[in-house]
Amino acid sequence: MKNILIVGGAGYIGSYMCKYLAKNGYHPIVLDNLVYGHRQAVKWGPFIAGQMADTKLLDQIFKEHPIAAVMHFAAFCYVGESVEDPGKYYQNNVAATITLLEEMLKKNIKNFIFSSSCAVYGEPVEIPITEQHPYNPINPYGRSKLMVEQILQDFRAAYGLEYVALRYFNAAGADPEGEIGEEHNPETHLIPLVLKTALGQRETINIFGDDYATKDGTCIRDYIHIDDLAQAHLLALDRLLNGLPGGQYNLGNGDGYSVKEVIEVARNITSKQIPAKIVERRPGDPAVLIGSSEKAFKELGWKPQFADLNAIVETAWQWHKTHPNGYPSN
Ligand SMILES: NC(=O)c1ccc[n+]([C@@H]2O[C@H](COP(=O)([O-])OP(=O)(O)OC[C@H]3O[C@@H](n4cnc5c(N)ncnc54)[C@H](O)[C@@H]3O)[C@@H](O)[C@H]2O)c1
Repeated sequence: MKNILIVGGAGYIGSYMCKYLAKNGYHPIVLDNLVYGHRQAVKWGPFIAGQMADTKLLDQIFKEHPIAAVMHFAAFCYVGESVEDPGKYYQNNVAATITLLEEMLKKNIKNFIFSSSCAVYGEPVEIPITEQHPYNPINPYGRSKLMVEQILQDFRAAYGLEYVALRYFNAAGADPEGEIGEEHNPETHLIPLVLKTALGQRETINIFGDDYATKDGTCIRDYIHIDDLAQAHLLALDRLLNGLPGGQYNLGNGDGYSVKEVIEVARNITSKQIPAKIVERRPGDPAVLIGSSEKAFKELGWKPQFADLNAIVETAWQWHKTHPNGYPSN
């Protein structure tokens, strides 16, 4: 079984990736400092507690385990915080990533899969957003993702690193078997916030503006299930291990849902009222963000299985209902 190092593998998407890899004949090894992750979410391979920029630890890991590829999910992901404290974001998301890449290259590990984001595009100039869309990130979080992508390009040219950068739109949903779900603290994502309101843990769900130029006035976003993200990572991994060139791929549904639609779907699925309140727009929120994933369909052979919003919210609701307080010891 090939060892895959999952950096950030105790987090929401990385932990599910481990399950997906194990099911598909790989051996995931998790490195996570648990700043945001959950120890209880690491179940499908060894867990190593530590920093991705700890050169001694990386040296030890790479000596102990032959690593076929590294998947990199570790980042700070709060857009607002990145504006207030950009140094923290560039240090963790960019500087620490460079250290990780350099340690990999010292050991001749050259396959890398990076969790990038649609935030690299910024305010869209056309919808759906393709990989050719101009890059104009509007906050340090988005810029940190773009910087890493640019560094990856240079490392490919100079050192022969092979990589795939996967630009996720809004990751959502939970493990269809109920073992892994979304637990960010603080939570900022719409679907878990709506479901926490359904559970009575929040009084209302805030809708940030209902006067956008969209069908019902609320913002439209592209939601993508974590199982479909995991499938894309596996396809990207197989591509690199087969010696094919990497690249950048959008991972979205191609279909957008408005905030009001998400709340309505959640009301139907949970049979709860879910009180909602219209509040002021947030700065920097584009009206519509929808990605085209044609390139991933064609080149990776990606076939999303949970594209329907009902399936996304249904799996998330099953997890939130059975884990109202998150993972057991939290
Ligand atoms: N969730 C989304 O909608 C979304 C969208 C686009 C891109 N992404 C990207 O996907 C990745 C995973 O997102 P997530 O939602 O699972 O986030 P998450 O916070 O749940 O997981 C990130 C994990 O990385 C760990 N980590 C952070 N810095 C580390 C470091 N220096 N050393 C070791 N571990 C470290 C955290 O403890 C956490 O377990 C991130 O890179 C994020 O930017 C997420």
